[in-house]
Amino acid sequence: MSSHLKNTVTITFYLILSSSIFYQSNGVFYEEVSEAISMKRMEKTTHFHFFFHDIHSGKNPSAIKIAGTQDSSLFGDTYMMDNALTEGQNVSSKMVGKAQGMYAFAAKNEAALLMVVNYEFSYGEFNGSSISVLGRNPVFSDVREMPIVGGSGRFRYASGYALAHTVYFDPKTSDAIVEYNLYVKHY
Ligand SMILES: *[C@@H]1O[C@H](CO)[C@@H](O)[C@H](O)[C@H]1NC(C)=O
Ligand SMILES: *[C@@H]1O[C@H](CO)[C@@H](O)[C@H](O)[C@H]1NC(C)=O
Repeated sequence: MSSHLKNTVTITFYLILSSSIFYQSNGVFYEEVSEAISMKRMEKTTHFHFFFHDIHSGKNPSAIKIAGTQDSSLFGDTYMMDNALTEGQNVSSKMVGKAQGMYAFAAKNEAALLMVVNYEFSYGEFNGSSISVLGRNPVFSDVREMPIVGGSGRFRYASGYALAHTVYFDPKTSDAIVEYNLYVKHY
């Protein structure tokens, strides 16, 4: 059999097989599909390193307050961000993505944030894929760990953790640069 013919036979067989699976699943509320995925793809861990720019000052801030109280307590203050992610600490270094989401002061007696953020990459092989983080961020601790709860595109089924370390903070404006290391398990 020529290799072209072999391929055609294989593809045809696959189409018949996959369409029969499709018909069987028609009207089925749930079914086990994990084996098909794990057979084709190996799980791997990718390490990301980048800097996050949380800018409140100037004419074009990347983080704005959207809710909170008028009193001096930070508790309840909530911000929406569209923060740049860069390869180096300098904001004018190569942009690799955006951190889009919210953070809120969720503790009464310390500066501990609830983070709900999608890190979307715009560069390299992960361009267009995003990682979702949901976690606790006590901002004045040296290194904060937050869980990666999922992702899209190349990060479908992702899990893992993010480590955040502040490298610059201006107490007057609250502008900050945060170094991130992400360890992402994905397929
Ligand atoms: C960032 O890079 C720009 C251009 O390369 C340079 O002018 C500036 O001094 C750098 N800023 C810092 C804080 O290193
Ligand atoms: C990332 O993907 C977008 C949309 O497909 C494309 O316009 C852009 O040029 C890509 N960027 C890089 C650096 O590959």
